[in-house]
Amino acid sequence: MKSVQWHDTHITILNQQALPHKTEYLELKNIKDVWDAIVTLKVRGAPAIGMTAAYGLALAAKSYETNDLAQFHAELKRDRDYLASSRPTAVNLFWALDRLMKSVAQAKSVNEAKTTLIHEAICIQVEDEDVCRRIGEHALSLFQDGDRIMTICNAGAIATARYGTALAPFHLAKEKGMTLHAYACETRPVLQGARLTAWELSQAGVDVTLITDNMAAQTMKAKHISAVIVGADRIAANGDTANKIGTFGLAILAKAFRIPFYVAAPLSTIDLQTKTGDDIPIEERAKEEVTHIGGVRIAPDVNVYNPAFDVTPHELITGIITEKGIIFGDYATKLPTLFEEVFA
Ligand code: MRU
Repeated sequence: MKSVQWHDTHITILNQQALPHKTEYLELKNIKDVWDAIVTLKVRGAPAIGMTAAYGLALAAKSYETNDLAQFHAELKRDRDYLASSRPTAVNLFWALDRLMKSVAQAKSVNEAKTTLIHEAICIQVEDEDVCRRIGEHALSLFQDGDRIMTICNAGAIATARYGTALAPFHLAKEKGMTLHAYACETRPVLQGARLTAWELSQAGVDVTLITDNMAAQTMKAKHISAVIVGADRIAANGDTANKIGTFGLAILAKAFRIPFYVAAPLSTIDLQTKTGDDIPIEERAKEEVTHIGGVRIAPDVNVYNPAFDVTPHELITGIITEKGIIFGDYATKLPTLFEEVFA
C-alpha cells in the first residue's frame, strides 16, 4: 500500500484522514491540492510529507509556461516557499524541497530542469524504501523474539515509502517469522496510533494492542514492556528529538521503568543546523482537534493549547537508529559523522 504515488499529470495519496473507516486514494492535481493535503494531514509523517512536497514541486514546475531559465527559477522559488509554509516541524519537508532546488541549479534549459525535478522526486521515494528497510534491520538487532514494545503516533509504512521507521522492525520481524508485540498509544488528539498504527500493523498481521495515552505507565508495568521505539520529525545536532506530542512523556516513563527508549529516523530527519531542541519550531494546531472527536464536540468552548509535537531531551534517548546504524549517546559528536560519506 503506497501512501504517495507519482503519475505524470497528478499525484495520488492514501487519504490518512479517512482511515481506518475507508481506504481511499485522492488525486492531487496542482500545488494547492498538495499544500492542502499536507496541512489537513491527509498525508502526514515526516518522510511522506517530504516525498509529497517534492512531487508537488515537480508537478507545479511542469505547468510553467516560460522558456526563460531565470523566470523558471523565480517561479520555482515561489512555489518552494509556498510548500515550505505547510508545516513547520518535520525537517524532511525542507530537506526534500531544497534537494529538488539544488538538483536544477545547473540546468541548461527549462525542459531539462522539469525532467530533473521529476527524477529527483522519484529518487527520494525510491531511496526512502531502502533507508527504511535498513533502519528496520538495525532496530531488529536490538530486540528479542517475543518482546513487547511500545510506540506512539504512526511512524509506519504509510508515513514513509515502505516499512516505516519505528514500525519497520515490526514489519521485518513478521517477514522473518519472529514475533514482536506492539503496544500502540492512541495518540490524542488526532489519533494516529489508534486510526493508523493499529490499522497498519493489524493489516500486516503484526500483533498489536491499543492503549489510550494515559495507560502507558500502567501498561509498561503490567505488561513488562521491554522497550519504547518512536519516530522523529526533527533531530537537532545535540540529539534532542521532536516527535508527536506524548513522546517526551513516554521517554520519562521509560527512564522511570529503566527500559530503553529508541528513536528511529533517517538521516533526512537529522538537522545539524538546528543546534538544540529549543530551536525546533513546534507546530500548534487548531483547537477543534482537542475539543472535537470525529466532528463531535466533547468539551466546552474554552481555551485550548494544542502543540502537535514535543521535544525529548537527548539525555533520555538510549539510542538513535538510522540507516547507517545505531548511535548510543554523545550525539553531538556522533551525529555529524553519519554525514561524512555524503559530504566527502
Ligand atoms: O503530525 P504527524 O502525524 O505528521 O506526526 C508524525 C510523527 O510525529 C511521526 O512520528 C514522525 O513524523 C515520523 S514518521 C516516520
